[in-house]
Amino acid sequence: MSAPLRKVVFPVAGLGTRFLPASKVVAKEMLPVLDKPLIQYAVDEAVDAGADTLIFITSRYKHAIADYFDTAYELEQKLERSGKQELLAAVRDLIPKHVRCIYVTQSEALGLGHAVLCAKPVVGDEPFGVILPDDLIWNRGAGALRQMAQFAPNPEAGVIAVEEVPREETHRYGIVDADMTSGRAACVRHVVEKPRPEVAPSNLAIVGRYVLPGRIFQLLEKTTPGAGGEIQLTDAIAALLRDGEVHAFRFEGTRFDCGSKLGLVKATLHFALLDPTLAQATRAFVAASF
Ligand code: UTP
Repeated sequence: MSAPLRKVVFPVAGLGTRFLPASKVVAKEMLPVLDKPLIQYAVDEAVDAGADTLIFITSRYKHAIADYFDTAYELEQKLERSGKQELLAAVRDLIPKHVRCIYVTQSEALGLGHAVLCAKPVVGDEPFGVILPDDLIWNRGAGALRQMAQFAPNPEAGVIAVEEVPREETHRYGIVDADMTSGRAACVRHVVEKPRPEVAPSNLAIVGRYVLPGRIFQLLEKTTPGAGGEIQLTDAIAALLRDGEVHAFRFEGTRFDCGSKLGLVKATLHFALLDPTLAQATRAFVAASF
């Protein structure tokens, strides 16, 4: 798509049960990987893709996300007075000045599809991105969402990020039926939500990045509860496929499933090993411990 992706939606109203009891009061998206919460990595990726409007779909338990991006006057004044310029910049420059944040409440956790539908009044009819912050994707070059936006062939096309997963894990993901023999992208023939390994059409799993046309909202409005009694985004994408075009896109980068404890541990180690102030000590600790 030649035009940059202006609007990105962050559905962050889920219950985060895999991180209970912590997620009883700490939003999953506020869990840190080193010193940055997951939501910050997601926002950085959206800004990298060209977004100037960030739409957070939150719940009454997730006020911390808006607080985090808000100005902290007292803290900033204290840091300024004590000359801690680096820390001051760290708390002040979370989002570039030209980017605005909009918060929409999903009053009941009725599913990812329903959460995305909550963004309709803000997004309108234009193509938009969706980032699930618990899928943290790291890449040295362009972020995953920028890669997808650049690939998108036209504003009416859907692009969904996919990754090969072990066969036995297909029941945890939306799975695409597509001929991804070579290259990074393929036309999707069919999508299935959480199929058992024996009936899964492939091992290409949908992960938390989407570029979607505005039309998806009309399809979501018609989507009835599917797997788990939730309104599934995958079902609306299946409807989009019937008379439209959806591409599976294998992004360049490493994904960490930070919605799971193991994924969060892996991401923490990965970023610690990239940090010159932590790498040596982390390596030594791991070598000595195992
Ligand atoms: P998950 O399936 O990971 O669910 O949602 P969850 O509630 O966040 O976490 P677990 O599985 O209970 O530990 C995928 C994404 O969809 C959002 C979540 O916040 C997450 O980003 N979501 C899910 C909503 O915003 N609303 C919903 O009703 C459901």
